[in-house]
Amino acid sequence: MTQPAEQIVDPSRGPEILRLRQLSKTFRVGFWATRVQAVRDVSAVMYQGESIGYLGPNGSGKTTSIKCMLALIQPSSGKIELFGRSPTDPLARARVGYLPESPYFYDYLTPVEVCEYVGKLYGLDARTRKQRTQELLGLVGLDQAAKRPLRGFSKGMLQRIGIAQSLMADPDLLIWDEPLSGLDPLGRKEVRELMIELRRQGKSLFFSSHVLTDIEALCDGVCILDRGVAVAQGRLADLLRRDALESEALLDLPADPQLEAGLRAELAKIPGLALQQLPTGVQAVLPTQAVPALIQALMQGGGQLRELSARRDSLEDLFMRKALQRSDGGQP
Ligand SMILES: Nc1ncnc2c1ncn2[C@@H]1O[C@H](COP(=O)(O)OP(=O)(O)O)[C@@H](O)[C@H]1O
Ligand SMILES: [Mg+2]
Repeated sequence: MTQPAEQIVDPSRGPEILRLRQLSKTFRVGFWATRVQAVRDVSAVMYQGESIGYLGPNGSGKTTSIKCMLALIQPSSGKIELFGRSPTDPLARARVGYLPESPYFYDYLTPVEVCEYVGKLYGLDARTRKQRTQELLGLVGLDQAAKRPLRGFSKGMLQRIGIAQSLMADPDLLIWDEPLSGLDPLGRKEVRELMIELRRQGKSLFFSSHVLTDIEALCDGVCILDRGVAVAQGRLADLLRRDALESEALLDLPADPQLEAGLRAELAKIPGLALQQLPTGVQAVLPTQAVPALIQALMQGGGQLRELSARRDSLEDLFMRKALQRSDGGQP
């Protein structure tokens, strides 16, 4: 996914599987039919085998775009192509597995019944349905609960059922709306590992998230939305600024208060160095050319250098930068 979509000429990439052309969606709400522009002119392209994060805070238009991609709602303007076809085309739809945001299933059904039902919708024969159901419930760790009614399932368990049913027809493209939300840290880790495994198997993955931390490892590319507008798009490696001129170091200062004060005084003499207390230690941000001075001060003052790296944007830095540019009236 890159900007503008039309400029990509990269033969090493697989075939194009999803394209948004200036997608816009406006809702009319309330008695006065007030217009809510949920998605504005979003253009994007995704290639087979890629994993794309569709990111942005709550209310930025992610679910609305995803519903348009699945033809669950109609765009107000613009166009979507799924495998080169209209999203209403059953041939395109059959190649997509969808995980809705906060999936809801009838709570008297069991995981096996949900998978069976979805398998029937996709026209799978009885043997394939049985085999896939067993395989997928194992994959998402629900084999023990396979025949228990969903009533009383935790949010995490419902999310796993949602994931299993999205894989029933062995789709090429997975469109998952907030697969990581509402999970505890362990569940989050498990779903992340599953996403990495599916990507390894060659699946294409388009997923949304309103939490930007810890998803970097999951995406080849991102599209970041802010109030309906795509404010940043492209490969993560290109988007996240690596500033070789600035470095980031994690330090251990001496436990003795007097030594610590002495070392802090020495560090304060290094031009451009800023210290910050993090839960993991003391962080120093400094011009890369001052790194030798930092090391010398640490050696003389009884401190230790635990980590040193070129300073890099996080996805959150990137979002804040882009969102601020927009509020300032700058170019998105
Ligand atoms: N069916 C709807 N009717 C009216 N407004 C809606 C509807 N669906 C979404 N919206 C509005 O569109 C905006 C984007 O919502 P949504 O796509 O759900 O964002 P996200 O998934 O990024 O949290 C929000 O302001 C939301 O209130
Ligand atoms: Mg949403």
